[in-house]
Amino acid sequence: MNRTLAGLLVVLLFGLTACGGGETDEMPAVDTEAALRAARADSVAQAAEMYQPAVFDTLTWESDNARWERGGVVWAFTCQRCHGADGAGKGEDAVTFDIEVPDLTAADWPYADDLPAIRERIFVGHETEMPSMGLIGLAYSDVDASAHYINDLLRSSE
Ligand code: HEC
Repeated sequence: MNRTLAGLLVVLLFGLTACGGGETDEMPAVDTEAALRAARADSVAQAAEMYQPAVFDTLTWESDNARWERGGVVWAFTCQRCHGADGAGKGEDAVTFDIEVPDLTAADWPYADDLPAIRERIFVGHETEMPSMGLIGLAYSDVDASAHYINDLLRSSE
């Protein structure tokens, strides 16, 4: 009985490896750009499903300053490489990888003073190049802090 089972396993395993090998030889050409975009769209959909804006009502900050300070740290470590220190969209990675990043300080910025929309965009991301920050583990408090940092500081420092 055991020997039959072992034999069966060997045949199965052999079959699997043979199949796998065959497939790599004939991999169809992949449209990398389209594949990446589809993968990003999946992440955005997943993050949108996870997003719970009610969590923001439960957050407490010691002071506005404490929130701005935290926002500045998040910005410097996580956002600035694309958005630029000043939020104008010319961060190092944006330039190096030719990523089109919007100017968050523009006078006609559509998200101006709309904190719920800013927070949602940060958490959910966008299928172009804006990462789904909620999916990759940015805490709700850091989403909140960076949203305020953009809206209250970056946008008013011009
Ligand atoms: C890999 C580059 C990259 C990183 C890192 C990044 N962003 Fe973005 N972000 C983008 C791009 C590109 C867009 C434009 C998305 C689109 O096409 O609508 C965007 C859009 C946004 C928007 C919506 C604004 C608009 O006008 O569309 C907000 C708000 C934002 N990002 C905040 C942040 C914050 C906060 C962080 C850090 C926690 C961050 N981003 C990190 C690339 C990035």
